[in-house]
Amino acid sequence: MMFERSQELFERAQNSLAGGVGAQVRSFSLPTPIYFERGEGSKMYDVDGNEYIDYLLAYGPLILGHCPGPVVEAVRAQLDAATLFGAPHETAVQLAEKLVEIVPCYDLVRFNNSGSEAVQAIQRLARGFSGKPKIVKFEGHYHGWYDNIYISHLPEALSMIGLENAPWPVLGTAGQPESVLQDIIVLGWNDLEIVEKTLKAHGHEIAAIITEPIMSNCGVIPPNDGYLEGLRRLTQEYDVLLIFDEVITGFRPALGGAQEYYGVTPDLAIFAKALGGGFPIISWGGRRDIMDFIAQRKVVHAGTFNANPLCAAAALATVTELAKDNGAVYERMTSLTTTLMAGIAQSAASHGIPVRLQGIGPFFGLSFRDPEVAITNFREAHGESPDYPQFRLALLERGVHIFPTEKGLWYLSAAHTEQDIAQTLESVDDALKILRR
Ligand SMILES: Cc1ncc(COP(=O)(O)O)c(C=O)c1O
Repeated sequence: MMFERSQELFERAQNSLAGGVGAQVRSFSLPTPIYFERGEGSKMYDVDGNEYIDYLLAYGPLILGHCPGPVVEAVRAQLDAATLFGAPHETAVQLAEKLVEIVPCYDLVRFNNSGSEAVQAIQRLARGFSGKPKIVKFEGHYHGWYDNIYISHLPEALSMIGLENAPWPVLGTAGQPESVLQDIIVLGWNDLEIVEKTLKAHGHEIAAIITEPIMSNCGVIPPNDGYLEGLRRLTQEYDVLLIFDEVITGFRPALGGAQEYYGVTPDLAIFAKALGGGFPIISWGGRRDIMDFIAQRKVVHAGTFNANPLCAAAALATVTELAKDNGAVYERMTSLTTTLMAGIAQSAASHGIPVRLQGIGPFFGLSFRDPEVAITNFREAHGESPDYPQFRLALLERGVHIFPTEKGLWYLSAAHTEQDIAQTLESVDDALKILRR
């Protein structure tokens, strides 16, 4: 498979687009960042004419696949009416009504254009409502790239971050002021004892705990049995808000996200990537008494493009599709995912290559580790997976597009087919053979 035109574009792009790409993660691709020109269903096509079965799905949003008919039609219809009002409109109301029905914790919602933005809004609301300054977050969890929360996301060396039961916050990038560390407490995930100890000592100054309910930024790491319930109980006991960052898990393991899947309702939540079916729209919201601080303008929330009609129309169409037939699409996506994971596991075992697979519903994490040892937190997920880049390249050359970095997250969509899975398993088997050599 050739990547000549992508290579040319990469060279050209570096003269005008910093690093030749639009976001950092897109630069981690061997042999070159690949430039795409078309997507359809489960497939995408690059500028060299190569076809790929896509398991990256734009890092999660394309839950209905590329260019899903109902979403495209809804946006086309909206284009004929208006592109932007900067004023209220009925589609946003219909979307809000639908989300309040679907998401267990939503009494009231608002919209933004990115997950990072929504995390800012929700933190401000938590602080405004509680009158307390600090936020608790967990090692390895990603809540966007803004200064006050891009902390202890994936610190490279474990030696930098303190003991497991006493981690300290680590800044994520040059340019971040140290002052942001004052209002953040970082803990290890899946450990209720450390949460209880922290809330006991500092609950009076903690506005909220923010967590991914399924840790999805180091692979797919489920909460231990009783962990989310424990967080719910402890936050209530110490009068601290519980925020689920469902930017990834919203609409993913179930229509109502991880909170529906596990039956644990937080105070506030963000539902993001999959909401717009490929268009940039994010919802966040929760308990009425908290969201009333937004409704009554006690806490400011703004944004020129919030709830814009094109994205709202896309989201309404996406959510309507996902909800059809009582969410039957989740059964189908999950069944395909189970087949794919089982096939990969079998292939890896037959080649004697250790591959750990962890999945929930239609997404899973793949890492080159002991298949029998569960990964339960950032520290266990941490470390080199030197085979991953070569594995990914071998898959690209065999028409399968996956996550560029060792996070190794695979997403499935409603557009994937049995044939895609069979073809992918053949490619995986070939790629693993190459690794064995
Ligand atoms: C859990 C979580 N929160 C927040 C974000 C930030 O969202 P965005 O990239 O839309 O700003 C991400 C992005 O991957 C995420 O995974």
